[in-house]
Amino acid sequence: MTLNIGIVGTGWFSKVHADLLAGMEDVKLVAACGSSQEKGEELAGKYGAAGYGDIHDMLENHELDAVYICVPPQAHGTIERALIRRDIPFFIEKPLASSTEIPASLLQEIKERNLLTSVGYHFRYQENIQRLKAELEEDKVGMIVGQWMGGMPGVAWWRNQEMSGGQFTEQTTHIVDLLRYLAGEVTEVYGAFANRIMHEKHENVTVADVGTVSLKLASGIVASISNTCVLPDGVGKVGLSFYNEKGLLDWNPERLLTVRSGNSEETPNSGNPYAAESEAFLHAVRTGDRTRILSDYEDGYKTLKVTCAAFESAQSGTPVKL
Ligand SMILES: NC(=O)c1ccc[n+]([C@@H]2O[C@H](COP(=O)([O-])OP(=O)(O)OC[C@H]3O[C@@H](n4cnc5c(N)ncnc54)[C@H](O)[C@@H]3O)[C@@H](O)[C@H]2O)c1
Repeated sequence: MTLNIGIVGTGWFSKVHADLLAGMEDVKLVAACGSSQEKGEELAGKYGAAGYGDIHDMLENHELDAVYICVPPQAHGTIERALIRRDIPFFIEKPLASSTEIPASLLQEIKERNLLTSVGYHFRYQENIQRLKAELEEDKVGMIVGQWMGGMPGVAWWRNQEMSGGQFTEQTTHIVDLLRYLAGEVTEVYGAFANRIMHEKHENVTVADVGTVSLKLASGIVASISNTCVLPDGVGKVGLSFYNEKGLLDWNPERLLTVRSGNSEETPNSGNPYAAESEAFLHAVRTGDRTRILSDYEDGYKTLKVTCAAFESAQSGTPVKL
């Protein structure tokens, strides 16, 4: 049976997903919806699909088996509600929104209907993350340190706090999500954010450009995750490191480094986690078996709560319990 897929959003990441879908067997992208009819048609045209400027029109005109949502954080709510009402499974790019209010109400409806969802925390699908998870099951972790140090993405919405939720919620969310996936739930956060450089270099920058967050986990582990978007193009550091009495487990998107006393071992990453997450979702759509999905809407909401609590803490200057 061929799955008929729709996509919402016509930007960079919609194209990444649409290209992957185009290469899959028994999957057809039949419709694309943008913020205007013109934008919808422009993306749809590349894949022989129909273009729309309104989600309701798209859903009226097609019997869709699933929909991919790849829109900026502030654009969430109406799209999901339209899909939930029609019981259409959806894959949604992280973060679920720029703040928690809309996802909290959507989550209730999703749970009531037991709707199939999947969230684009693709690092969970990396082979090295699975290796790391297996390794950590044997270990008692002492502490964890993570970071997302990079430059500022070009799109206008990203640098606006209300639209994107800021770097920690929009981008560093991947590291927070891995922390939860690999080490368990966060119980308290204390964030310190500042706006040092980027607002002087560019107009309309309201997001913090440096930040560091201390986190306490239910297990007793303490962690710290820092981020900045002040770096020039091509300079950066993204990763998560686990420290205990055996040594250091150091992950970054390219490799996993295991350092024990006297020896170290490096495992380069292989495979495509974006393809793996899509295959897991579509397998669930086709068969009803959700076991390969590593992050659903409820799980993604827990990550959003942590990142938004860090922002709230940075605003208030006091720790926030979750
Ligand atoms: N998992 C990852 O590695 C990864 C990488 C990049 C982006 N993303 C996520 O994907 C999402 C989109 O990012 P992007 O880079 O494609 O941004 P983008 O700015 O390139 O594209 C966003 C698109 O959404 C469209 N849009 C806005 N509101 C809409 C609406 N109501 N209906 C339909 N379309 C609407 C815009 O017109 C634009 O075409 C973000 O949440 C981002 O965090 C994830």
